[in-house]
Amino acid sequence: MEKLVSSWFEVELLPEPYVFPPEKRPGKVSFPLGKSIPVLDLGSSNDQNETIQQIMKASEEFGFFQVINHGVSKDLIDDTMNVAREFHAMPAQDKVNECSKDPNGSCKLYTSSGNYDTEEVHYWRDCLTHPCYSLEEYMQFWPAKPTKYREVVSRYSVEVRKLGSRILELISEGLKLRTSYFSSGLNESPTIVINHYPPCADPTLTLGIPKHRDPTVITILLQGDVHGLQVFKDSEWIGVEPLPHAFVVNIGYVLQIVSNGKLKGADHRVMTNSSHARTTISVFVHPSSETIIEPAKSLLNASNPPIYRALKFKDFQNEFLSKAADAEALHQFISSTTD
Ligand code: OGA
Ligand code: NI
Repeated sequence: MEKLVSSWFEVELLPEPYVFPPEKRPGKVSFPLGKSIPVLDLGSSNDQNETIQQIMKASEEFGFFQVINHGVSKDLIDDTMNVAREFHAMPAQDKVNECSKDPNGSCKLYTSSGNYDTEEVHYWRDCLTHPCYSLEEYMQFWPAKPTKYREVVSRYSVEVRKLGSRILELISEGLKLRTSYFSSGLNESPTIVINHYPPCADPTLTLGIPKHRDPTVITILLQGDVHGLQVFKDSEWIGVEPLPHAFVVNIGYVLQIVSNGKLKGADHRVMTNSSHARTTISVFVHPSSETIIEPAKSLLNASNPPIYRALKFKDFQNEFLSKAADAEALHQFISSTTD
């Protein structure tokens, strides 16, 4: 576990295995604003139909939006960010011990992509991830240090899951699906992903996570107060501005499939920086492994034939894990045609 970036990041030179090939390097670190990701107010006084329209527009245009007045308390957000930071600040051996409680490995601690020994280049990040539903089943395997971890993260998981269901209800109405469309198998296995990006000796040469699309229905991200997330839009990278206590929501591959391409997953990446550690907390809204993911039947007709095939989420996920770096190969795998 000496490989964890947080164990050795204070080096003067970026080690060669972390240097990305020239065409993938971020180069000059800047966060162009200009076109920015829409910020939506979910406060109760807002007209629901208008909110649905805003979500659909943002999802179609960017695949990304931020939400404020979302109902998750600021104190809970701050407490969760604090335990997440405390976790990644613990000695490596403690982190390993705290993530080794489940013989089936549901709680994982890894660095880079998780394929450290086989990948061509390493990413500048450490990651803690575990299922966050159901609590009865999984909480016993979560880290018990920091001492408040389970209490705080369980409350956070419940609240963010509720928010996720609410956003998915709005999206199902926007897509003209039944309101509960996503609340059977499709949102059943949410996972929490706590990324940590230590300060980096040369942010122009490496990335925390290279360009990718999430293997989720939606992802609900708390990015704290440090810049780093960028979205690829109209052939350029645009920064997602950190707004205190806002959540960043993005559309993943599963929703792209369910909506038959009406909503597209957005490509994004994570930059590093040389002065501030960055910790982010995502809830990946995931189907359970046996759930079939496919274009919603009620959306299909002669002029809108299925462009994706039906497959089990676990088969998609396996393919994603082996092909994430090759978007074209993954696209072929999910497409309804094989040409
Ligand atoms: C991810 C991701 C963004 C961030 O974990 O898939 O895109 O800012 N994270 O950490
Ligand atoms: Ni992502």
